[in-house]
Amino acid sequence: MSILSTDQVSENWSVIASAYEEAFEGLSSQFAAEVLKLLNLKPGERVIDVAAGTGAFSLLAARAGAQVLATDFAPGMVARLRERIAAERLSCISAEEMDGQALAVADGSFDASVSILGLIFFPDIAKGISELRRVLRPAGRVGIVCWNKPEELDLMTLIVRSIKKIVPEFQPPAAPPTWARLHGADLLSNQLRKAGFQQVEVITVNGTLRIESPQTFWSSFTSSAPPLAYLFNQLGPERTAAVGREYMALLQAQSSDAVPTLRVEACIGIGTA
Ligand SMILES: C[S@@+](CC[C@H](N)C(=O)[O-])C[C@H]1O[C@@H](n2cnc3c(N)ncnc32)[C@H](O)[C@@H]1O
Repeated sequence: MSILSTDQVSENWSVIASAYEEAFEGLSSQFAAEVLKLLNLKPGERVIDVAAGTGAFSLLAARAGAQVLATDFAPGMVARLRERIAAERLSCISAEEMDGQALAVADGSFDASVSILGLIFFPDIAKGISELRRVLRPAGRVGIVCWNKPEELDLMTLIVRSIKKIVPEFQPPAAPPTWARLHGADLLSNQLRKAGFQQVEVITVNGTLRIESPQTFWSSFTSSAPPLAYLFNQLGPERTAAVGREYMALLQAQSSDAVPTLRVEACIGIGTA
């Protein structure tokens, strides 16, 4: 059995649910909105969101009138999403704990299935994609989001640059991150075709996050994913704050206005069962 990385353990996501929502959902909801448009979901259609996190896609789809089942393996994510569902009094959505590699739902029971920056973490990505297909009715639609070019993902590469400046002896992990196993249009469309999806298309989309309040952002961002939480715990508060100032300076230097701005590229793959 292979050893799981920190972002493949449900408890590690559970404990960071609110930091994830604060720092990251502003970005993932931009991709969620694109996926919703591309899937052209009609009111009343049934959609399953796999590795839904705090609900970026699920809440948008429910507000648009779809019947949503949001699933995630981390109880903390599901609990936070249930709070949000209750706060908005949405009746057409429920949230359940489930491993995306073994969904506890019947074959053919959804019109659409989605995983936004979710199945890229699964130990068995191919199983995750085949589950997204198994649960679709014939001609049901899938939407999957992964990152485009990990080596150009400022979100992460600037962390390594800033840490190296503040802590010169820092050695970045030798292995590529878990989520980089599935990236870019070619890998994504191959995986979708291999799983048996038809009419596969992949588009590249940009996400932008203007960081109006760097300190607030940094304090959530440093624990918005399990590997980040682990890394910055090791560095301790002073060095973490110094790395944050450096990170913001790097972002600011490449922004055209006074606000540090993160730009990221993701790929959205769609297809039909
Ligand atoms: C980067 S977040 C994405 C959340 C959400 N889809 C979004 O767009 O904001 C990754 C999510 O994948 C979930 N996850 C990771 N491995 C999983 C698995 N094997 N089964 C279900 N969920 C998983 C994590 O708990 C986390 O909520």
